Amino acid sequence: MKKKILSVAAAAACAISLAACGGSTSETTPAETTTAATAAEAEDSKADEGAGEETSAEETSAEAGEAEAAGGQLVMATNAEFPPYEYHDSSMTGPDGSDIVGIDAEIAGAIAENLGLELVIEDIAFDSIIPELQSGKADIGAAGMTVTEDRLLKVDFSDTYATAVQVIIVTEDSEIAGPDDLAGKLIGVQQGTTGDIYATDDFGDENIERYPKGVDAVQALTQGKVDAVIIDNEPAKIFVGDNDGLKLLDAAYAEEEYALAVKKGNTELLDQVNQAIQELKESGKLDEIVDKYITAD
Ligand code: ARG
Repeated sequence: MKKKILSVAAAAACAISLAACGGSTSETTPAETTTAATAAEAEDSKADEGAGEETSAEETSAEAGEAEAAGGQLVMATNAEFPPYEYHDSSMTGPDGSDIVGIDAEIAGAIAENLGLELVIEDIAFDSIIPELQSGKADIGAAGMTVTEDRLLKVDFSDTYATAVQVIIVTEDSEIAGPDDLAGKLIGVQQGTTGDIYATDDFGDENIERYPKGVDAVQALTQGKVDAVIIDNEPAKIFVGDNDGLKLLDAAYAEEEYALAVKKGNTELLDQVNQAIQELKESGKLDEIVDKYITAD
């Protein structure tokens, strides 16, 4: 059984040179053009500094970024079913004033603060996050989202801020000891995640059970409806801790990197996000956020 290791170098190369990955920055749908133009016009009328130049396609997308800033909000799309990165906790108040907390929520909160914007968190299905960015309804996707070559064709990714591993959860009495034993078994995954994508690729669609939330897949495992769950290591640890009779296999299934996503071509916002991530890394604030949610084991 092949073990998938995402080539981060390749993904980074895609980010730098889209042509190398078969993507094209000039693929603008009519809807996108309208959104960008409207946003740029809104910006023009609101805060025209009197530059008075013709807008090139590039400037239009930069101005669309500014228009978001002018609106005063940074809309983060996420799927808050993924502790410790994003989840609901009614005993806490998240950076947007809701009960959504976690590493991504706090990173986005710090970025918004940096940009002088109010953070608004939208909790949606994981596989709706990229469409939401593409349509311009959300500014950033922050969801423990793995950088993959396929996703790089649809959105732009920031610098990475975490590494992760896709792991396998089984019941304590399971005979499954590693990825090779998964052939022919029923595997539970969260719909649209890399666990879903890789497992479908490796073991075939008929062996995959997709659930709206990772925790639903884990629930199905405890009820004997699936034989294993493939999911990211940090939520996996929490789900295994919350449920009796489950264990995490040592053998990793795949390694990956998380980054924030923005609409393809929104280089202004992407630069701002990268700068904020850099500052969070250098100041030690990122480590602080991670330490708050993940206790070293
Ligand atoms: N890292 C995996 C992926 O990018 C899973 C992320 C799931 N995130 C979430 N907030 N539910 O596909």
